[in-house]
Amino acid sequence: MLHADIPLAGASRTGPGIGQIRARFPALAQSLAFLENAGGSQVPVDVADAIRAYMLESYVQLGAGYGLSNRATETVDWAHAFIGTFMNATATGKVILGPSTTQLCHMLANCYAETLRPGDEIVLAETAHEANVGPWLRLERNGAKIRWWKVDRDVEDCTLASLESVLSERTRIVAFPHVSNLLGRIADVPEITRRCHRVGARVVVDGVAFAPHRAIDVQAWDVDWYVFSTYKVYGPHMGALYGRADALAELRGPNHFFIPDTNVPYKFELGGACHEGCAALLALGRYLAFLAGHEASYPVSRATVERAMTRTSELEATLQKALFDGLAAIGGVRIIGGGGAEVSERVPTASFLHERYSPSEVVAALHRADVAARYGHMYAYRLCESLGIGTAEGVVRISAVHYNTVAEIERSLAAIRAL
Ligand SMILES: Cc1ncc(COP(=O)(O)O)c(C=O)c1O
Repeated sequence: MLHADIPLAGASRTGPGIGQIRARFPALAQSLAFLENAGGSQVPVDVADAIRAYMLESYVQLGAGYGLSNRATETVDWAHAFIGTFMNATATGKVILGPSTTQLCHMLANCYAETLRPGDEIVLAETAHEANVGPWLRLERNGAKIRWWKVDRDVEDCTLASLESVLSERTRIVAFPHVSNLLGRIADVPEITRRCHRVGARVVVDGVAFAPHRAIDVQAWDVDWYVFSTYKVYGPHMGALYGRADALAELRGPNHFFIPDTNVPYKFELGGACHEGCAALLALGRYLAFLAGHEASYPVSRATVERAMTRTSELEATLQKALFDGLAAIGGVRIIGGGGAEVSERVPTASFLHERYSPSEVVAALHRADVAARYGHMYAYRLCESLGIGTAEGVVRISAVHYNTVAEIERSLAAIRAL
């Protein structure tokens, strides 16, 4: 029995209905309203089944030449190809798979450490998750100068004007989030990238908080590096890093010396990619095909990915409006970075403070109402500091994805109102 609040919708003209979608996620059959998706999403049954099947049926090493080993090799190759399609990366670069975004950012920064020249500057956004800050800060030891792309306190975000004030001919790298995992607002990646390229800098975009909600298009945005975590996009606990061909060519991958530099992505995948995770990524493709209403045409095309992500934003638009309008109507609640429910401007992640109750008190009330939400700095530590938000308790964050329901949002709002 699924939640009582799920409308018994069938397939809509534009794709599957919410009832069909939720039925694909066994974890959502529990009474808990899962609104902690910015931390990590649930997985469809396809993904979990694929891990089990891979481990029980083809858990052998790659490249040994016997039938089962060939199948395992294909699984890993196809998973790279699928993520390439997911990011629209195939024409312009390569996708590197790894255990997490944090690990991939460290790997990338270590590669850049070898190439730094005296006077090189690295620009870091104060809105960033620490995963795309800490690895670059360590390059100070290699002589890099760090410049902060500061938060404008009036708009509680990093603006293009504040970017211009730190960019110069010495800027080598600009690391910033596509969406802050605390603010939920979508940055203008093509425009930021254009300005960084104008001074000859590379961009390293953290797309973790964007990827569950909209289609990634590294080709259209012309980014150099783009990273996200597949466990926030209904997949296994892995990360994926796109590198544009010319950016990849200026670095030497860290894998063993006897692996040729031209063997990309393997040269950048220390120990290789998680094999059962690759099987799960392929199954994620099947879920996207289902979301797009193209299940029969699996494996997925770029059109299927785009359709699936359009379906997620269609479903999220209603949730986003309910969440932001609802929070804004509660006296004493301050949404960090402001409200604004426009789907073109933000994703359904809301962080807020209550003038009378601490984040831990608000979250305790949510937990009593059987709502999964959390409080804290969300690893956006420097953003909290620059906004004067105590890092011990940080903010309350409620984050939805396409499989949530308005009734779940209402339950959260009611718990806050009842305080
Ligand atoms: C915006 C953002 N960037 C990076 C990360 C780190 O990702 P990972 O856990 O894959 O290292 C997170 C995780 O919460 C995140 O929300």
